[in-house]
Order: sequence, then structure tokens, then C-alpha cells
Amino acid sequence: MTLKVFIPRDAAALAVGADEVASAFAAAAKRDGLSLDIVRTGSRGLYWLEPMVEVETPAGRIAFGPLTPGDAEGVLDAMRTDSAHPLRLGLPEEIPWLKRQTRLTFARCGVVDPRSVADYRRHGGYAGLARALNLGPDAIIEEVVQSGLRGRGGAGFPTGIKWRTVAEAQAAQKYIVCNADEGDSGTFADRMIMEGDPLVLIEGMTIAAIATGATKGYVYIRSEYPHAVAAMEAACAAARRDGALGRGIAGSAYDFDIEVRVGAGAYVCGEETSLLESIEGKRGTVRAKPPLPAHKGLFGQPTVINNVLSFASVPVILDKGADIYRDFGMGRSRGTMPIQLAGNVKHGGLFETAFGITLGELVDEIGGGTASGRPVRAVQVGGPLGAYFPRALFDTPFDYEAFAARDGLIGHGGIVVFDDTVDMAKQARFAMEFCAIESCGKCTPCRIGSTRGVETIDRIIRGEDRGANLALVEDLCNTMKFGSLCALGGFTPYPVLSALTHFPEDFGAAPRLQAAE
Ligand SMILES: Cc1cc2nc3c(=O)[nH]c(=O)nc-3n(C[C@H](O)[C@H](O)[C@H](O)COP(=O)(O)O)c2cc1C
Ligand code: SF4
Repeated sequence: MTLKVFIPRDAAALAVGADEVASAFAAAAKRDGLSLDIVRTGSRGLYWLEPMVEVETPAGRIAFGPLTPGDAEGVLDAMRTDSAHPLRLGLPEEIPWLKRQTRLTFARCGVVDPRSVADYRRHGGYAGLARALNLGPDAIIEEVVQSGLRGRGGAGFPTGIKWRTVAEAQAAQKYIVCNADEGDSGTFADRMIMEGDPLVLIEGMTIAAIATGATKGYVYIRSEYPHAVAAMEAACAAARRDGALGRGIAGSAYDFDIEVRVGAGAYVCGEETSLLESIEGKRGTVRAKPPLPAHKGLFGQPTVINNVLSFASVPVILDKGADIYRDFGMGRSRGTMPIQLAGNVKHGGLFETAFGITLGELVDEIGGGTASGRPVRAVQVGGPLGAYFPRALFDTPFDYEAFAARDGLIGHGGIVVFDDTVDMAKQARFAMEFCAIESCGKCTPCRIGSTRGVETIDRIIRGEDRGANLALVEDLCNTMKFGSLCALGGFTPYPVLSALTHFPEDFGAAPRLQAAE
């Protein structure tokens, strides 16, 4: 009898010893004369349980975790004999943290062999592409528009509208570009997809190519993601061998291929026009808009540029239908959002759920509060340009408009949790410093403003002429907000002003800015 065991090769699982656990399993099986088939998967996203190992049984997969190499012998024995073990977690789908989720985009992540097209198909992969080929370009775009899908990279622009603009543009060459720079603090969903289910991204980009008439695609991945780069390269090669990429995709008249490009490590290269400059081999500086990339993008040609999660959500929309996807969510935020819980949180990981869940539910119930056991004092939502929310705003539903109404943003869906030891003046200073370091230098409010911002916050922290310097920071933030060319300079005021508004006591002064709630 061969035992089939699933061990993640996800970067976060590797960081806590997944490779060593895999080697220990292989060695223990050899010692016991057991036939073992180890499949390296992505992660299910319950990171406090990694390395989480699963075994195939007639009743479904049974999970064990978190494991150390020393556990291999005993766990293997429990797997073989289907007996009790202290690290036995049962059916992964029944673990409450996973059971409570709605996994549409992440349905296969942590389940399939990311490098096998056959396994991908076995789990429903390429059903979306098959329907897309039947529908044709116009109906594909209509389906994406109807689904209500909005860009998951941060700005929340309707994906179908962007595709229609490119489809209507006249050009001999069009491009599909996937933004996998994932620079936001506390985010890892793009990486998880690329490492755990890269074919869903390839399928989504292929559908975009058919819809818009593009024949060439690029995935721009940050250099800090070597495992994602390897997984994407391997998946593209597997798709090419299968005929799902290259000339005449799946026997159709459409040609499409993908190239993986690795960035050199600049936050601003996640901004779409800067990213295009970088792919073209230039320094990553922001282009003025218009023209929009949809009209004049990569190499001056019409280009669809979308986040990993935007593309990865398309196959399920095409497969199940726009209405099913649209039924999830609230207001203008339709479908599900892969939310990432990080920072000082007890249960960190990937939680995909319909829009509308409150921040408090996410942090207190799902995240389980802080890892340190101390009270949660603040959370930053939406990356380094997102606002800090105090507990008083924990009733905010996860929804683009609801966050905007409270001077926040959901961005790429990252939530970073802080306990009561956080110094919010330092966090405000850090936001300005981050902007100063990462600024591309093209416009003055950001390039100069962020440096002056650091100096002014330093003066406030030192207690120098607080009233005047607080007024100066507020004035400077307004200049950055309304005078910057892109959201790096334009949104840095959000973390700074939210820290000042909600945590004035950390700035040593009597509250000058009035709380927004
Ligand atoms: C400074 C800055 C950094 C950004 N970083 C990313 C990023 O890492 N990943 C991403 O998808 N979008 C990022 N964006 C947003 C992109 O400019 C763009 O809106 C996005 O790629 C569009 O795809 P979507 O419509 O699918 O969200 C960034 C924007 C700015 C201003
Ligand atoms: S806001 Fe900053 S990063 Fe954006 S274009 Fe201006 S200088 Fe460059």
C-alpha cells in the first residue's frame, strides 16, 4: 500500500521547516519499509498550524500539525494505522477556521499539486476557460462586468470595464500584465496563489487575453518571492506542454503565452505605470495619466494590468456564472475577498470571505486577538498607505465604500494587528519615512514632503512647539494628498492622520485633531 501525503512547499511553511519535515517523512518511511508518495502543495493558509501535513484516506484527507521533523515517525504511524495522535487535526475542511470561509478564488490552494495540469483539471481547473472559449470575447467581458469584480490590487476599479477598454482599442499588439509585486505590508495572498495554485492565475490571464485580443502576457513578481517565481515558471512550462499556453490554446484559434519577470525590489514598482516602465527595462518611475495603460501601456500598446487576485477570481466567475459570484458581498463590493491576517495576531493566515464581515469579527473572532495575549490597540488595514483603525471603528464592514467613509482603505486586504505596546507616533513617523525611502522622486509633494514630514513628526515627538508642528503636519498631508502624482505620496497621509486623529495621546499633546467617529 502506498501512502499519499501532502506537504506544503509554500514559502511561509518552508520558513517553519516544511522541507525538513518532508525529508523526515521520507527517511521514516524508508526505515519502516513503507511506500510513500509525497505531493508538495501550497498552503491552506492556517499559518499557525504550519507545517501542516495531510494524508489521503478513503474518508478524505486527514491533517496533522504543526509538525517538527521529530514528529514524522509517530505521525506516519498514526496515518498508517488511522489512529489517534495529539497533533491530529481531522478533516481540514472541518477545522472551524477553514469551514467558516467561502473559498472561491482559493478553492484549490493547499489542495492540488501546483505543477500538475492534470491535477488542476481533476479539481475543476480550466472549466472557466472552456466556457470562455464557447462564449467569445464580448460575452466574457459582459460576464466579468456582471460579476461586479473590482481590482484586488488596491484601487478597486471594475475589472470588466478595464478589459472592455482594451478590447475596444485598435492595435496590432496588446498585452496582459499581472501585477505580482505584492508590496503591501502584511499581505501574502498573491504569493500563496502563485505557489499553491499558479494555474488559476494562468487560466485567468488566458481568459483576459481571449477577451481583449492580447497574445502576450507578463507576470511581474517581486524578487523577494523566489519560490513563487519558480512555481510560476514550472506552471507555465506545464501549461505549455499541455497546450493550454502557446499557439492555438486548447485547440482554439487563440494564441497566448506568458513570460515571468522579476522586479528588483521597489515598492513603487507595484504602481502600474512604474511596473510597466520596469518591464520595459527602465527605472521604475510613475508615468502621468492619461494615457491610461488600457490605451497606451506596455511598449506603448493597449494593456490590461491587473492584480494576481483579480485574474485568479475570473476562472470561477466564468465557470459558475457571474450571478453566483455577485450574490456574495455587500453594496458595490461583490464576491469574496481573500483577507490576510498578520502582525501581532494569534491566528494569522488567509481568510477568504464575502465582503461585509466586520473588522472586529476578523480581528477578535477569527484572528483570536493578539499573539502576545495583550489587548488589541490598533490595526492597519490596506498596507503601508492604509489607515490605523482603533477598536472604536471595529464595527466597520469590510467593504471599499465603508472603509473610505472612515478615511481608510481595504487595499489588497491586509490587516496588521498591534497590541497596546505600540507607539502610534513612531508608526506615523514610519509611514512618512517609508514614503521618503520609496518615493520615485517624480513629484515634489511626495519627494520633498515626506522628508519634511519625518522632520516635523520628530519635532512633535521631541515636544517642540507641538501646536504649530501638528498644524504643519496636517497642512503638509493635505498638500501630499491633493498634489501627488500617485497614491504613494497621495495616500501616505492616511496612516499619519489616522494615528494623529485616533491616538493623539501618543503625540504627547492634548488632542488637536478631532476623532472622526
Ligand atoms: C505605490 C503603489 C504601489 C502599488 N503596489 C501594488 C502591488 O504591489 N500590487 C498590485 O496589484 N497593485 C499595486 N498597486 C496598484 C496598481 O497601481 C494598480 O492599481 C493595480 O495593479 C491594478 O490592478 P487591479 O485593478 O486588478 O487591482 C500599487 C499602487 C501604488 C500607487
Ligand atoms: S507620489 Fe511619489 S512615488 Fe508617486 S509619482 Fe510622485 S514622487 Fe513618485
